[in-house]
Amino acid sequence: MARGCGMKMKISKTVYINTMGCQMNVVDTEQIEKILSTIGYERTLSLDTADLIIANTCAIREKAQQKAFSFLGRLAGLKKRKAGLIVSIGGCVAQQEGERILKRMPYVDLVFGTDAICRLPEMVQQIEVEKCRVIDVETTTSVNEFENGIALHNHREAAKFVTIMQGCDNYCTYCVVPYVRGREKSRASGKIIKEIRELAKSGVREVTLLGQNVNSYGKKEGLCTFAELLRQVNEIEGILRIRFTTSHPKDLSDDLIGAFHSVEKLCDHVHLPIQSGSNAVLKRMNRKYTREEYLTKVDRLRQACPGIAISSDIIVGFPGETEDDFLDTLDLIKLAGYNSLFTFNYSDRPNAPAAAFPNKVHPAEQKARLQSVLSLQESITTQKNSELVGSTAQILVEGKSKKQRLNDVNPNGQAIQWSGRTSTNKVVNFIRNDHEGPGDELLPGKLVHVEIEKALAHSLWGKLVEAEPFGLKGKKYYAA
Ligand code: SAH
Ligand code: SF4
Ligand code: F3S
Repeated sequence: MARGCGMKMKISKTVYINTMGCQMNVVDTEQIEKILSTIGYERTLSLDTADLIIANTCAIREKAQQKAFSFLGRLAGLKKRKAGLIVSIGGCVAQQEGERILKRMPYVDLVFGTDAICRLPEMVQQIEVEKCRVIDVETTTSVNEFENGIALHNHREAAKFVTIMQGCDNYCTYCVVPYVRGREKSRASGKIIKEIRELAKSGVREVTLLGQNVNSYGKKEGLCTFAELLRQVNEIEGILRIRFTTSHPKDLSDDLIGAFHSVEKLCDHVHLPIQSGSNAVLKRMNRKYTREEYLTKVDRLRQACPGIAISSDIIVGFPGETEDDFLDTLDLIKLAGYNSLFTFNYSDRPNAPAAAFPNKVHPAEQKARLQSVLSLQESITTQKNSELVGSTAQILVEGKSKKQRLNDVNPNGQAIQWSGRTSTNKVVNFIRNDHEGPGDELLPGKLVHVEIEKALAHSLWGKLVEAEPFGLKGKKYYAA
């Protein structure tokens, strides 16, 4: 496809990007999209017609890695049929496996690691011209800055992730992240604030500050504390909500706990992964806190912000986890009263020390334990959600509901299902009739009041009671 571009005719090619894994990869995909646009690539959702295909992969568990390889495997046939197609793998599996991928998959043209995104244009152009295979899995100790990152943010989205730090120094014994994302490094606060100001100007209303352990933001570099950074973001005009993820319980400071009380725009939600409720297991995981210390922090969070929602991650079947250890985990889940939980079967990872730990838990036992955690949490979540029926919640509207997007017929004059989140991070879907206000397209990015009518397994259902205007002044401004 040829496209007019000023005086020159620029050949436009297309790139298909499959993003797997965590929010780090979501942000990386945005950077990939942006940087490839400088050499004429446009993002496409059509795998069959793409000129360049990128798998942006995750290595956190064996299953995630298999998913990456099975996606790549499906491209072998496509590559045969389509001359000139460039097949590429990036992200954490690329960083971890490097050369082995080129050996194992002859149809892969490019392997690039998590620190190599800024060099993508040269690599892709080299492949285009020389028809060669390229690998770049070099790591850097300095933070990757994408100064022009904001250019991409022009498509209007209400909520965005902003990377504040990269890498991790914690070396939990099960985890691959320190090996695939390198050492912890923080971005200068001035650059973060500048990026968020630009986002706010382009219509973004909520930012999630992203890092593997945001609580240790800036410590190495002698920058401001994370709580101070939150206070600075709080001052940015146009931003209505601030979230962050992930915070390591060992580094959750009193200053940060206090921020849930004093920083007006900070949402009433914290993701605080415990991993296990057994002190013996926590020790072998190298988590550096006990269940008692963790629960004390949970209490303090609730004192600072009584309505706070807390979510967590749990790994079941860590090597050597006994039945008693597991019962401690179930007990902790009840004591913490989580609003939601992400539960994982332990998975051996290359490089991670726990892969060599003895007394592996049998997969059938792992499965049974996973099931017990899931059903316990389901009953807690259901109970907590049902308590919200009848209350009014403040929602930041993010867009049409998933159901509406899937059957996007948008019947003229009929009600449209919208979707947003409470401050406590619960998804709320609601209907808004045409007569209730100006054009529907005005809703995303707005704070509205919704009365909760029904609690479903993973979301709430409500009725719009108040759209704009919405006052934020001087008070914490949400419910639910
Ligand atoms: N930095 C974040 C975690 C990132 S990984 C933190 O410390 O909280 C997301 C989650 O994946 C982890 O919290 C953990 O629960 C899970 N996880 C990591 N490695 C795993 C492994 N080898 N097996 C199973 N789950 C794992
Ligand atoms: Fe992995 Fe632990 Fe770092 Fe989280 S804090 S990324 S679990 S090593
Ligand atoms: Fe994220 Fe997976 Fe990499 S969880 S940091 S994409 S290993």
